[in-house]
Amino acid sequence: MGITTKDEQGIQGMRTAGRLAAEVLDHLTDHIKPGITTREIDRLAAEFMKKQGSVSATLGYQPPGYPPYPASLCTSVNNVVCHGIPGDKPLKKGDIVNVDVTVIKDGWYGDTSRMFMIGEVSIAAKRLVNITYEAMWHGIVQVKPGIRLGDIGWAIQKFAESNGFSVVREFCGHGIGRGFHEEPQVLHYGKPGTLEELVPGMTFTIEPMINAGRRDVKEFGNDGWTIVTKDHSLSAQWEHTVLVTQTGYEVMTLSAGSPPPPAFVKG
Ligand code: MF3
Ligand code: CO
Ligand code: CO
Repeated sequence: MGITTKDEQGIQGMRTAGRLAAEVLDHLTDHIKPGITTREIDRLAAEFMKKQGSVSATLGYQPPGYPPYPASLCTSVNNVVCHGIPGDKPLKKGDIVNVDVTVIKDGWYGDTSRMFMIGEVSIAAKRLVNITYEAMWHGIVQVKPGIRLGDIGWAIQKFAESNGFSVVREFCGHGIGRGFHEEPQVLHYGKPGTLEELVPGMTFTIEPMINAGRRDVKEFGNDGWTIVTKDHSLSAQWEHTVLVTQTGYEVMTLSAGSPPPPAFVKG
């Protein structure tokens, strides 16, 4: 298959799917409070996707070697790195949770995630969440024709590690379009000037998973999905889907409720 580029019609399809995914997160935001269970968050999302006329890409998703994913989104709390399955444990004050939404609209995929802080959280947790957000954006602002994927990975890794955090290696961003996980892999670490060169029309996600402690991860329990930090430290993640334009990038998963870019991102 290789890396696909999207024409104007594909880009329009991706814009719509991306915005809808972000609007699911907007809709959930007011509900994500102490006491709500991640299963209720999942149910609210499923209901909202139905209203939108979108379909969850994660419900029943089954890559080779995995059981079918059982929910309409992922909820990864505290030391859960990614792919947390919604359940009956209520969120409590001090938790940090990543909510990761992927929808399909007219055959196009939009994939985005945000962190939510439940009530007052520790200064350390807040710092991890904010540095991870900035790490994602340090990757995004690299994006333009002619740069290479290694430039994105390096920008993220340098920023995260200089702040005393570590970058998860086992999971990465990905091409996205008419498929969920397309080529290329978008590593969140690496060396400048290496790997694939970006060309206009490419669409992929940038979704760094950053740990407060060591970078190592392991599977948790036997659900076949949940990934946690080996050292039990907190982990955070943010995700956008981006398009390579003629001159730079366009973030495809923005909505009215998206947090603004950090100050270092120029108009
Ligand atoms: N949305 C995740 C990503 O960013 C993938 C989740 S797959 C699932 O690539 F099956 F766990 F939902
Ligand atoms: Co995602
Ligand atoms: Co993704």
